[in-house]
Amino acid sequence: MHVKSAEFIKSATAPSHYPEALLPEIAFAGRSNVGKSSLLNVILQRKNLVRTSSTPGRTQLLNFFCVNSSISMVDLPGYGFAKVPLSVKRQWGPMILTYLQNRPALCAVVMLFDIRRTPRAEDLQLLDWLEECGIMTIPVITKADKVKRSQHKESVASIASATGLPAAAFTLFSALKRSGAEDVWELIETAITDRNMALDAHP
Ligand code: GTP
Ligand code: MG
Repeated sequence: MHVKSAEFIKSATAPSHYPEALLPEIAFAGRSNVGKSSLLNVILQRKNLVRTSSTPGRTQLLNFFCVNSSISMVDLPGYGFAKVPLSVKRQWGPMILTYLQNRPALCAVVMLFDIRRTPRAEDLQLLDWLEECGIMTIPVITKADKVKRSQHKESVASIASATGLPAAAFTLFSALKRSGAEDVWELIETAITDRNMALDAHP
């Protein structure tokens, strides 16, 4: 995908502040520090469009971006970071669920897993919500560079078994090596096309 333009639109927490849903939308979710913002910068071919941090749990808002004037992308707040205050942790669930239930333009959620970590309760909760809401999930395993190539298969198999998703559904990605970006783009484009076709069939 050639990214001609990518711009930050706004941050929001509640539906009344979301930008108008004029474009097909793709959201990026996963635990804090998993590499959501880094993945977005790589696929958007911008160094620092999306703020990354070595302090997990910093992004507590939904951040909306517009790509090539044709796709909306949302960096969702991460979850599961121990040091985040309880009051903030309590907001995460309702904020994400409200978003998933109130965004008809949402075509798919790219869900990130760290290659070195076993998925936890919040990951499984989010996968359940996506299924309940009928939203396509694009599972991506990131930080692939942190594990030897010879161990990739084993890591993918263990994450797949913890989530109940087939191993073949996962795409390996590394923001450091910039690998996997084309695969992620292909899945995003397919999700948008599928949704447009479904809308044409049942407007
Ligand atoms: P929150 O916004 O806090 O939820 O985190 P995030 O999921 O957006 O993670 P972010 O992209 O900020 O990355 C967290 C840390 O992991 C940063 O120090 C990144 O440089 C590092 N990181 C992200 N992706 C990769 C990767 O593929 N490989 C390696 N080695 N490091 C990565
Ligand atoms: Mg982030």
